[in-house]
Amino acid sequence: MNNNRLITTLFILFIATSSFSTSLAFSNLIISKLDSQIDLTSQVVRSTITLKIKNNGDDPVSEVLLPFPEQQAEKLTFLVAGSSEGKGKRKSSFSALSTKVANPEGSPPALTWYSVLLSQPLSKGDTLTLEVKTVFAHSLRPFPEKITQADAQLLVFQDSAYYLSPYPVKVQSLTVKLPDQNVESYTKIENTQLSGSEIKYGPYQNIPSFSFKPIAVHFVSNRPLAVAEELVREIEISHWGNIQVTEHYKLIHGGAQLTGEFSRLDFQARFKGVSAFRNLIATLPPRARSIYYRDEIGNISTSNLRSDSRKTLLDIEPRYPMFGGWKTSFTIGYSMPLKDFLFQAEGKRFVNITFSSPFNDIVVENLTVKVVLPEGSKDISVSVPFPVKQSQETKISHLDMVGRPVVVLEKSNVVPEHNLYFQVYYRFNSFSLLWEPLMLISGFFFLFVTCIIYMHADLTISKSSASYLAKLQWDEVQSTVQQIQNILSQCLAMHDKLEASLRDLSRTGDIKTCKAARKAADGMSKELFKEMKPLLSFLHSSPQAAGVVPKVEEVVAKERELLEKLMLKHSTVTDSYEKKLGGREIENRVASIQQKVMALRQEVDDLLDVIDEI
Ligand SMILES: *[C@@H]1O[C@H](CO)[C@@H](O)[C@H](O)[C@H]1NC(C)=O
Ligand SMILES: *[C@@H]1O[C@H](CO)[C@@H](O)[C@H](O)[C@H]1NC(C)=O
Ligand SMILES: *[C@@H]1O[C@H](CO)[C@@H](O)[C@H](O)[C@H]1NC(C)=O
Repeated sequence: MNNNRLITTLFILFIATSSFSTSLAFSNLIISKLDSQIDLTSQVVRSTITLKIKNNGDDPVSEVLLPFPEQQAEKLTFLVAGSSEGKGKRKSSFSALSTKVANPEGSPPALTWYSVLLSQPLSKGDTLTLEVKTVFAHSLRPFPEKITQADAQLLVFQDSAYYLSPYPVKVQSLTVKLPDQNVESYTKIENTQLSGSEIKYGPYQNIPSFSFKPIAVHFVSNRPLAVAEELVREIEISHWGNIQVTEHYKLIHGGAQLTGEFSRLDFQARFKGVSAFRNLIATLPPRARSIYYRDEIGNISTSNLRSDSRKTLLDIEPRYPMFGGWKTSFTIGYSMPLKDFLFQAEGKRFVNITFSSPFNDIVVENLTVKVVLPEGSKDISVSVPFPVKQSQETKISHLDMVGRPVVVLEKSNVVPEHNLYFQVYYRFNSFSLLWEPLMLISGFFFLFVTCIIYMHADLTISKSSASYLAKLQWDEVQSTVQQIQNILSQCLAMHDKLEASLRDLSRTGDIKTCKAARKAADGMSKELFKEMKPLLSFLHSSPQAAGVVPKVEEVVAKERELLEKLMLKHSTVTDSYEKKLGGREIENRVASIQQKVMALRQEVDDLLDVIDEI
């Protein structure tokens, strides 16, 4: 195992700090009691440390220093320190203190320091209780790194049994909380005790500053390790009454990778694949509406909604269960009433909304939040309770004159603790709101005038004239094209049914029903193409149709090709199921066909749009 890196660093540190620690001013503080709790029940490491600090020196002290070894500092993604007022069980409010990265003179390079600024200096002989909460992402390592479908997933956690403190510690203890009682192994030193799902180290007394004692815990954890490699959240504000949120996810199961064949049969029948997850749950605001969930293939209906007055729970199920290393991409969208999130203060408007993903227990490696403000917004400022990268861009959509300002916020390694409220302030002139309706009204006015002119012009055509006959013929061409369009849309509806039958197959495994669906589609498509034949020959014979025939023929040909590819995809998938191939392998087999299908579908849709204009 590569736990040596942490130990080596700690050792170098020990040498480097032995001279350093004695020479510094902060040795005036001592920690009379230290209690550390580490929670390993999810995919991130959460640590809560309660420090009782005493000033043994003569001068008042206004900051407390917290060092982290390099390997931990890289993974540290959230830190909050505060003093809890009151004593014992009646610990009341936790008030956060400001923290900043510090760089004490002479510190060895392998340490990253944070400094906690006290609200008032700690005078000689006084004590203070400080609570430090930290979250580390990606610091639990699956070991072994690869497992089969039948195996449970094991994770390794490494740390020091002694808190790395720049101050001497009188009494300290550490509790490590695991998901359950399944512990493979753990480092045993003096005063180590395993009880239930908790390992307790300590109490240890009179520990000098910068002491360390490496420990490792190897334990079973089948909690879903859902990691969004990338998430783009777009929050669009419309002063017409709602906020539209669209979230694009690239999700991976970040745990031990699956080796060997995946069997859906095993997965369903024998509850194998404990390390996989089937579904994800998002907590949306209570009045979220028009909720959808779709992936590259289309809308997925296997999502569930439950709501009460405080929240809406969205339970989504990807098309296949997620095993270690497996990926999926999907989008969810919902809209919410504007008045729940838009407020006014000091002549400005502000949106007050949560920052991160609504999915429970997800880690987002790269999060981009885009807040699209109404056109004409000015004096934009942002308030986020932690550091983020900020920029601005412009989004232009239909009816916009100059585009909407977009606030772009980026952050990496986002954990649930970051899902806090943030605010975007802006000024907005209500007159801008009238632009869109004014444009619509003038648009309708012109249309109206054009219609009148056209109708008057039309009335001047004499019924026996050549132009009147030509018009009749043109009407007939148009109605024929329309009939062809109708048939084509029946074809497309049939394609959707074919796709749906494949989705059912993946859920139920019922090959017979799926094959029957293909047979029905085959019969129906023959009928539809037969109906189209006389319509096409009419177009060929009509001189008026010369301009439209090529496009119509093209779309019919593309539709034929699309149908062929879909049938091929369908038979490939059903064959694979008959041969009991794994999900991965099926995906590989149909990947190239699927690409072709999507490209053709796009072409057919585009051509239909062109024909619509006729
Ligand atoms: C996340 O962003 C960083 C920096 O922009 C980039 O180097 C990294 O490749 C991104 N990761 C993913 C998974 O996109
Ligand atoms: C998916 O559902 C949403 C919301 O019901 C709808 O707006 C969208 O058009 C649907 N997309 C497809 C491809 O059916
Ligand atoms: C934002 O909304 C949250 C939850 O409703 C609230 O606690 C917080 O005070 C609000 N922030 C501001 C600046 O209004």
